[in-house]
Amino acid sequence: MSNTNTNFSALFANFKSVFQSEKVFASNYIPDHLWHREEEMTSLTNYFRSIITEPTASSRKVVLYGPVGTGKTVVSRTFGADLSNYLKSEWKPREPSFRFFHVNCRKTKSPHLILTTVLRQLVPGFPLRGFSVDELLRMFSLLLYEQNLVALLVLDEIDYLLPDERTNFLYSLSRIEEGDPRIRQDHFPNNQAGLESRFNLLCCTRDKNFRYHLDSSTASSLGRNFITFPPYTRNQLFDIVSSRAEQGIRAECYDDALIEVIAGLAEESGDARFAIELLWRAGKFTDQERKNFITPEHVRKAVVSVLPIERSVVEDLSIHQKLLLLSIAKLLANNKQYVTTPEVKKSYVGICEEAGVRPRRQTQIWAYLKDLGRLGLIQQEVENRHKNGQSLGRVTKIRICDVPVEEIIQSLNQLIER
Ligand SMILES: Nc1ncnc2c1ncn2[C@@H]1O[C@H](COP(=O)(O)OP(=O)(O)OP(=O)(O)O)[C@@H](O)[C@H]1O
Ligand SMILES: [Mg+2]
Repeated sequence: MSNTNTNFSALFANFKSVFQSEKVFASNYIPDHLWHREEEMTSLTNYFRSIITEPTASSRKVVLYGPVGTGKTVVSRTFGADLSNYLKSEWKPREPSFRFFHVNCRKTKSPHLILTTVLRQLVPGFPLRGFSVDELLRMFSLLLYEQNLVALLVLDEIDYLLPDERTNFLYSLSRIEEGDPRIRQDHFPNNQAGLESRFNLLCCTRDKNFRYHLDSSTASSLGRNFITFPPYTRNQLFDIVSSRAEQGIRAECYDDALIEVIAGLAEESGDARFAIELLWRAGKFTDQERKNFITPEHVRKAVVSVLPIERSVVEDLSIHQKLLLLSIAKLLANNKQYVTTPEVKKSYVGICEEAGVRPRRQTQIWAYLKDLGRLGLIQQEVENRHKNGQSLGRVTKIRICDVPVEEIIQSLNQLIER
């Protein structure tokens, strides 16, 4: 047996983790049961009801609004999966097929990428480049018709699209069905398609004023069907965390009093993700101390260690975005108020060398900095510098305001190692 194996055995000897399954704490985990969202599910079903009865009769568009961690993603995914399953058995072979697409706009950052992602699911190997957004839209519409499909597209975290892009894209999407008569005539000489609607849209937003950013024609089709997800109450959080604990933690390692503490701490935000993450982290601290019961003290430790930004936002960064953020955080950790782009670039190149990866070029670095800014991880401010009335050029000051940089460094180091 190799040394490594022997060491691992020693590590696990006499130690049983409090977790029985960690996968139920993963950000993409879909629970079997959704608590306290019956009303929202019913509204959603009512809005989309005619997909079932008259699949191509009209195009339905709905917006889910709610603050962070209120279940928008999990409800939309569950609804899409349930509807797919139901229609599979309900619709006869000659009726249209139903296709559900769920796109996260934080990860899939532009209308172009969103449409190619969707088209690639319909046409494997569909090229990533070479078509404009309008062309992609037309192809999408045509494919729905040719393949006899009815689609529901979820644009999740739509707030991450650039505001102008978002407005234009939603406008174009709402026009897919109305169709430009010239295009219609080219593609559908008999004009059958002009009478059909095969495209349905569901947007998830955290922005209360979402509807006010739409132009009037989109607002009239999209802005009316709003479902609001209120923050969860303490008791609701208790049920959500309790059922996650039942699935993920060994029964002898926690009790209801612990879940009460967690629900109490998450009550202010009403954020289920935060509550679930507290439980997971408290479990991790318990394992680290080689104890076999999670206590409120472990939860308190967990509270301190949860980043005020979402873990998933940092996790989803590409490796170079992580390295860039790490270089900014490391520079700022030396008690600096801000850093400049040349400083960041130098430190990033050094960190890449240490990590044994080839640094990206200047233009890519700019693009990554822009992404980090858009995700709210860094703040950038351009300053025009003058001396004795003469311009000394512009300098970009980069800051991290919302999160202690030491925490960013620690969690990035862990993620990068992984
Ligand atoms: N009603 C519920 N029952 C069980 N688990 C839930 C419920 N609501 C949310 N969760 C869980 O809480 C976490 C956050 O939920 P979700 O990701 O759906 O929130 P969100 O509203 O989409 O948040 P964001 O605005 O950040 O996108 C997920 O792990 C999800 O599984
Ligand atoms: Mg979400």
